[in-house]
Amino acid sequence: MTQFKHLFSKLVIGNTELKNRILSTAHQTNHVKDGIPTSDMIAYHETRAKGGVGLIVLEAAAVHVSGNLTSHTIAGYDPNIVDAYKGLSNRLHKYGTKVFSQLFHGGREVVSSDYRNAAWAPSAVPSLRFGIMPKPMSLEDIEEVIEGYAESAKLAKEGGLDGVEICCSHGYLPAQFWSSLTNLRTDQYGGSFENRMRFIVDIVDRVWQKVGEDFTVGIRMSADELTMDGTTLKDAVQIVEYLVDKVRLDFVDVTGGNSSTYEGSTHIVPPSPMKHAYLSAHGFKIRMAGAVPVFIGSRIVDPVEAEQIVSTGKADVVGMTRALIVDPDMPNKALQGEAHAIDACIGCLQACIGHYHKGLPIGCVQNPKTGKEAWVFEELEKPREKKQVVIIGAGPGGLEAAITADALGHEVTLIEKHNSIGGLLQTMRKTPMRHELAESMIDNYSRKLSRSNVQLKLGEVVDTETIAQMNPDAIICATGSRPYVPVIDGIDDARVILIDDLFKQNAKVGKRVIVFDFGGDWPGMEAALHLAEKGHEVMLITSRLHIGESVHQYLRNEYLKKLYDLNVKLLPHYDLGSICDNQVEIRNLFNQQKVQLENWDSIVLAVGRVPHDDLYENIKNLVPIVKQIGDCLGPRTIEEATHEGMLTAMNL
Ligand SMILES: Cc1cc2nc3c(=O)[nH]c(=O)nc-3n(C[C@H](O)[C@H](O)[C@H](O)COP(=O)(O)O)c2cc1C
Ligand code: SF4
Repeated sequence: MTQFKHLFSKLVIGNTELKNRILSTAHQTNHVKDGIPTSDMIAYHETRAKGGVGLIVLEAAAVHVSGNLTSHTIAGYDPNIVDAYKGLSNRLHKYGTKVFSQLFHGGREVVSSDYRNAAWAPSAVPSLRFGIMPKPMSLEDIEEVIEGYAESAKLAKEGGLDGVEICCSHGYLPAQFWSSLTNLRTDQYGGSFENRMRFIVDIVDRVWQKVGEDFTVGIRMSADELTMDGTTLKDAVQIVEYLVDKVRLDFVDVTGGNSSTYEGSTHIVPPSPMKHAYLSAHGFKIRMAGAVPVFIGSRIVDPVEAEQIVSTGKADVVGMTRALIVDPDMPNKALQGEAHAIDACIGCLQACIGHYHKGLPIGCVQNPKTGKEAWVFEELEKPREKKQVVIIGAGPGGLEAAITADALGHEVTLIEKHNSIGGLLQTMRKTPMRHELAESMIDNYSRKLSRSNVQLKLGEVVDTETIAQMNPDAIICATGSRPYVPVIDGIDDARVILIDDLFKQNAKVGKRVIVFDFGGDWPGMEAALHLAEKGHEVMLITSRLHIGESVHQYLRNEYLKKLYDLNVKLLPHYDLGSICDNQVEIRNLFNQQKVQLENWDSIVLAVGRVPHDDLYENIKNLVPIVKQIGDCLGPRTIEEATHEGMLTAMNL
């Protein structure tokens, strides 16, 4: 008997029986070519179906050419989609997993892409986040789009999918119609509440007309747009009560947020350290309002949280999308009593939604196999000669290399000079916004190590003698990096503190602090927040175009919110010129103007890192294979470290 008895109970929604309550909600993989899912997408979802997920809602499929979010959006309206859907449904049904399409039109929300559609919306009200002014839809446009929803639903059914979810969440087109702030129309689709609801009512009606009774149709909606001028829980309750009275709705998939503002968009894919399962109370209110099955998601990272949600009646089905991106086998592990072996999502956003916005195929910093399913498993299964492998450095790159090499049957020794694993994660652990992420990642790798045959040696320094004694077949150097110190006048001033010393050694810091950042990444922002939280007066100066330029926009929203809340002064476009007595000279990166700053007591430098590659240079010719990965090869992020860790171990 499983400890998750509610999570693994069956449920009928509409015409579909689910084998369990675990859902992978709609999420773009960028495995789409010319509007059609590729075989990479099938392999991606098949891996998760095999891992036991009950229901997969495929990524947003445009219902009309004007509804393409990017040039990698599924063309749900294209009759050629039927064969692709058949490919997906046949492969996923084999595992008892049900599959829905998400019928999508973004209205005024169009993500920047190589070709940007003219945006259509009920009225000419701009999207602040994307800086888009839409064209108000004519009655003919409205009719065409409603027909697009119905036709796309019909094609989904012809392709063997089990149902459709009409996307009304995050301020997309149906929500733009029902909100009085974005719908300024004076015809039958605007004005009164009933008129603003007419668009979604017409869509659902038309969809049922096309698909017949033996299908499953529901909506996705934001129970609260969680932003200024957004719809609230009270509005959402009114909308659901009205809709279930007017049309057949088989389910409501509840989420939060709104795409059109920075603040609201954070909730589309909420980052760490936002609270786990923070929308589940909203799910309960919508469940009560609609008396139809409710799905709830957002930062639900483990089956214990999911079981609690279902067992307490907050929702019927639990969206665990990133949990499945990280660990596709999570449902089966939970079912088989191996919950301790589940890897949890750390909420970093870097390679899942981060890749989407860069137009790259989906990935995961903790699971470098994600997005590569079409070839990676076959590659991993190829027979290999067993080697004795030494990995030096137990940061994310070294850890991933060790776990992969061990899984491939090599004899692995992982040596770390500190007394704990994690590398730079140990620094992140002390930061205000990344501590949960770091702890969770260290925890995931600790558990993986404990289940492996990797021989872990902590607190040991490797030199040429160690290598001569061990005489391995291969060495992977993952020795990380140290802070960069620019060569400028005054850099030896005792008031200059390096980022690692700030967090590791609790360096003494004066009242007024200037933090210099060069990468627009976490170190500068974390230093500024850490000090501001302790009551220092902080100025954060970046040489990037804007603060937090390199972190994903949803995470940046959270950083900026906190930086503003703590009154940190923000200054982009400058770098550090020199330090002389009480004067810090900063230089404008556009017009070279020099500015002298006088009111400061300490300077914190987060201006890049340099590789720790001395050991590599000393040992690179001692054994047949010596490789470098991660920061030791070139300082970058966790994503490159784990990616190189896996690939290097695979190619030994
Ligand atoms: C890469 C990526 C793409 C997404 N694309 C969509 C989408 O097409 N439609 C949608 O409604 N939500 C989309 N989302 C939001 C997810 O459906 C989900 O609500 C979000 O990831 C939070 O749930 P989680 O914490 O379980 O991951 C996307 C999320 C990710 C990570
Ligand atoms: S990239 Fe980060 S946020 Fe995305 S699924 Fe992986 S661990 Fe979670």
